[in-house]
Amino acid sequence: MQTVACELLGQDDVDAVTELEGLCFRTRWTREQILLGLARHAYRILGVRGKGGLVAYVAFSTIAGEMEIMNIGTRPGHRRRGHAARLLTTVLDICRREDVETGFLEVRRSNAPAIDLYEKFGFTQVGVRKNYYPDNNEDALLYRLDIRPPADDAI
Ligand SMILES: CC(C)(COP(=O)(O)OP(=O)(O)OC[C@H]1O[C@@H](n2cnc3c(N)ncnc32)[C@H](O)[C@@H]1OP(=O)(O)O)[C@@H](O)C(=O)NCCC(=O)NCCS
Repeated sequence: MQTVACELLGQDDVDAVTELEGLCFRTRWTREQILLGLARHAYRILGVRGKGGLVAYVAFSTIAGEMEIMNIGTRPGHRRRGHAARLLTTVLDICRREDVETGFLEVRRSNAPAIDLYEKFGFTQVGVRKNYYPDNNEDALLYRLDIRPPADDAI
């Protein structure tokens, strides 16, 4: 089986991330927003590269013991191969190393694939933001995760 590593992306990857955003989201971050976010260290972006370039990425922030998944996407044609799961696993490993204890994210109510992914990782729904997305007034579901240490480290 092919092993693909996640790596931290930087300013040289902004064009690739922008392209993938466009393929994955109806309302998307612009190149300038991504550049600014990275320059200000507002979030980090991890990516998975394939032969043809970037195939998946996740943008996440950590602040005051809380992590937020901002965006996660896998290139159409490369989905259901475990890329998003690998990225999320890496984000949670980073959080454990950095003593980040809680994770949050928002997801469209209709986004069954993403909800399935997050629930598989133990995120549970803790709220609803009514009519949150301006393009279609769709609700956002708010999810939360207690990021526990690995079992071996547990007291
Ligand atoms: C959601 C998304 C990131 C999943 O990426 P992916 O690389 O295909 O996900 P994985 O292969 O790692 O799947 C991991 C698990 O997520 C769930 N999942 C992923 N796609 C799914 C689908 N189409 N239907 C149901 N469950 C799905 C499954 O539990 C899956 O595990 P399994 O394959 O063992 O059943 C991808 O569909 C995507 O880019 N969607 C568009 C962007 C988006 O909506 N992002 C989320 C914003 S909140």
